[in-house]
Amino acid sequence: MNATTDFQIFETKSLAPLDAREALIDEVWRGLRKRPRSLVPWMLYDAEGSRLFECITTLPEYYPMRTERDILASYAEEIVTAVGSDYSRPLRLLELGAGTAAKTGILLRAATRLRNEVIYFPVDVSSDALDAACDSIGCLLPDVQLQPLVANYVTHPPKLERFGGNTLAMYIGSSIGNFSPEEARIILRNLRSQLRTGDALLLGTDMVKDVATLMRAYDDRDGVTAAFNLNILHRLNRDLGANFDTDCFRHRVRWNRVQLRIEMHLESTCDQCVDIPAAELSIQFAAFETIHTESSYKFTQKTLGALLEDAGFTIKQSWTDPRRLYALTLAVVQ
Ligand SMILES: C[S@@+](CC[C@H](N)C(=O)[O-])C[C@H]1O[C@@H](n2cnc3c(N)ncnc32)[C@H](O)[C@@H]1O
Repeated sequence: MNATTDFQIFETKSLAPLDAREALIDEVWRGLRKRPRSLVPWMLYDAEGSRLFECITTLPEYYPMRTERDILASYAEEIVTAVGSDYSRPLRLLELGAGTAAKTGILLRAATRLRNEVIYFPVDVSSDALDAACDSIGCLLPDVQLQPLVANYVTHPPKLERFGGNTLAMYIGSSIGNFSPEEARIILRNLRSQLRTGDALLLGTDMVKDVATLMRAYDDRDGVTAAFNLNILHRLNRDLGANFDTDCFRHRVRWNRVQLRIEMHLESTCDQCVDIPAAELSIQFAAFETIHTESSYKFTQKTLGALLEDAGFTIKQSWTDPRRLYALTLAVVQ
């Protein structure tokens, strides 16, 4: 990248052409024909869902975002240094579920101060979020090389080309919490298989805490999280021609104390039938029946350590906030 260039030109690549419509139909078939009914969290993130998620991150109740941002702001240089202190080597930063990269800029800025060459490889299922990420990083840090990829990192784990520097995989925003322990292990093992000795993973996890704080974070007073959750039905109406009456579903949040996870559901307020023509489905919902749309697992030091160890990583260092609400953990490949 030439330092005098005002804008970076980048192409957003698709790993396997991401046919969102086919993928939506598959998930609707898998999740809505069985009981209890469920949908997968990536479906929440179309353009409107990504916009609503950005609104959630500014809510006073939603502590994970600002807590993680504060930790990054306090320790960004320490984190980059902990990845490797040979500053002559380039640094490649692969980020799963990068979204708009709102916090990643903090780490990238520290990386550009410490390393001569920095490459940013954000992966997200939402092309709208990735476009926003590239626009903002391209403007803020024009020397960072951008290699965005639109992909579902669960079904199409990103492959890394051989590289002469260190790779830092970033998986922040508490996204790992959206997956069951088994799924999380597979995602991290796939990631581990792409890394080599000297590479590292920075993992952001929300920690177990009092239930009232957790519930408020997913059920805010202004109803933004409810709108985010209900948007999944709007998406099925828009993209698959479904006829969900979104006034007949309501946002429900539960703390599952056995699994240590917050669950978001959409509860049918009455007996009703919904058609999803593109999936050739008609679904009968009973009053109070729910669709489980997202889980957000919360961690303890023990469950976090076990997950990373199972996936083949060794914890090197971790950073937290004064109230220990949230943790950023650097785990290395030995
Ligand atoms: C909770 S947001 C976190 C965004 C950002 N990392 C942050 O910390 O603010 C989750 C992001 O992951 C993306 N995402 C969710 N599931 C995904 C999947 N299976 N593959 C790729 N991206 C996914 C969403 O589009 C969204 O941008």
